[in-house]
Amino acid sequence: MNASLTMVMPDDMHVHLRQSDMLDLVLADTVKQFARAIVMPNLNTPIISTKLAIEYRNMILNSLGKVKDGLKCFEPLMTLYLTDLTTTDEILKAKESGIVFAVKLYPNSVTTNSHVGVVDIFKNCYKVLDMLQMIKMPLLIHAEVSDSRVDIFDRESVYIDKVIIPLRKKYPELKIVIEHVSTKEGVDYVYSSPNFTAATITPQHMLYNRNIIFSGGLRPHYYCLPILKSELHREYLVKAATSGDKRFFLGTDSAPHDTKAKENSCGCAGCYSSYNAICLYAEIFDKAGCISNLEKFASLNGAYFYDLPINKQTLTIHRNENIVPDKISFKDLNIVPLASGETVQWHI
Ligand code: NCD
Ligand code: ZN
Repeated sequence: MNASLTMVMPDDMHVHLRQSDMLDLVLADTVKQFARAIVMPNLNTPIISTKLAIEYRNMILNSLGKVKDGLKCFEPLMTLYLTDLTTTDEILKAKESGIVFAVKLYPNSVTTNSHVGVVDIFKNCYKVLDMLQMIKMPLLIHAEVSDSRVDIFDRESVYIDKVIIPLRKKYPELKIVIEHVSTKEGVDYVYSSPNFTAATITPQHMLYNRNIIFSGGLRPHYYCLPILKSELHREYLVKAATSGDKRFFLGTDSAPHDTKAKENSCGCAGCYSSYNAICLYAEIFDKAGCISNLEKFASLNGAYFYDLPINKQTLTIHRNENIVPDKISFKDLNIVPLASGETVQWHI
């Protein structure tokens, strides 16, 4: 058993950095483990234009300035929030800016701040999709239908059948990332699709099955979207991630909400994992006997898909049993991190 593990510095290819004090907190945790991150655009005022992306990036750089060496060691990779009204001009502007690396598709009303998400991708976005395919800019998909008649546990597999498969037929070379893939059906779709398709996988979807949400009572800190699935799906995700297959890479979907918003009669969806995400992933890879593939998943596969250089920095984590804190507090904020109270074997 290795006492420590050194790898190319990882990238988090799906994170919610938020704004204000929450941004300061998430960023300080993120830069300890990640050299770059794909920054989600679902702020209260969604990042629907390059202008807003530049403004948000400046907010992030400002916050990075407060972290020791932050500006030197971390690069935010911005995304645009796709709406029914996004124009091809806006996509070109985003590409030319050099700071936007992808476009995020939220089906309307599917999750936090998706009220301006896309209502009909085929009817309203075909020109934008053509353009994305042409300029090789990835489309990041929250792959769930928001139809209330579809069972919440089936929303991803239904989305794959109803949207992704037809989308792929129309746009054979569009770069697509199925974000936070959570089902066997999602993973199988990626396996069936040799080029231009990839998926991020979160720690929560590999650590837990859905029983944890209801174990001994209702546990809101395990509620995220896509919702945790059954054990069969969890095991399938672990197999895919730990295989080293270049189509699967790290995206935490770390999505903090204050405890007041989580422990609520209508609590928000999202798990906060930026506190120690790489250690949680190491735990998963270790248990699967595949720790040697962690670097591919965390540091190489994502860069390869996004056509980014491999990071020059390295990260060393140590085998050092520790307990994840019950709560993280910063100014007026209180956040319960993923795996709070649990013992983990790795430490940054
Ligand atoms: C995310 C959030 O809170 O921004 N929540 C979540 O459960 N993952 C939104 C999202 O990615 O769905
Ligand atoms: Zn997310």
